[in-house]
Amino acid sequence: MRELSLNVMDVAQNSITAGASLIEIRVEEDRKKGELVIFIIDNGKGMSEEQVQRVIDPFYTTRTTRKVGLGVPLFKMEAEMTGGDFSIRSKLGEGTEVRARFCTSHVDMIPLGDIDDTIVLLISCNPDRDFRFVHQVDGAKVELDTRQLREVLGEDVPLNAPDVVQWMRGYLQEQAEECLQGGAST
Ligand SMILES: Nc1ncnc2c1ncn2[C@@H]1O[C@H](COP(=O)(O)OP(=O)(O)O)[C@@H](O)[C@H]1O
Ligand SMILES: [Mg+2]
Repeated sequence: MRELSLNVMDVAQNSITAGASLIEIRVEEDRKKGELVIFIIDNGKGMSEEQVQRVIDPFYTTRTTRKVGLGVPLFKMEAEMTGGDFSIRSKLGEGTEVRARFCTSHVDMIPLGDIDDTIVLLISCNPDRDFRFVHQVDGAKVELDTRQLREVLGEDVPLNAPDVVQWMRGYLQEQAEECLQGGAST
């Protein structure tokens, strides 16, 4: 089964390839509205307007001979299939913001899946980058920021040290249980 967490992984991978040192992932759910909004925001190399257009619609120009990626178009399609929407805001040399909004009660809504696992995997596979993860369900919020984590750990302990990875897993799980109580739409 497909899960939105896999799309998040895919799109965050673009941020990493774009040389971002900080990647912010926000998952915001409003259950009363029946809405889920996912942001992936980076400070990577960014894109021109023309590049953004090409990424959103890879078949927009027939002159291109390079292979077309489908990570972004798939994410867009999945949002639009639920009656939601999708946007990319980007500036060369500054960074990129990808936003996807889903209508959660639509029959074509794909489950979020294990977003905590996805985040921990992203962090542990890219210990040289910083990540800020914010998961909000209605009024409640869980947050993990590797910059704060680094301060506590000091310079000698990498973010992918087994103990640290395990701590992050436990922390996110505990926080989700305590704060998001039955909230996460998995
Ligand atoms: N966050 C980003 N920052 C800079 N460029 C990006 C970003 N996301 C996507 N791109 C550009 O858009 C292209 C298409 O992305 P995608 O659809 O995920 O396919 P792929 O990653 O397979 O190329 C990337 O190759 C990259 O050039
Ligand atoms: Mg990609």
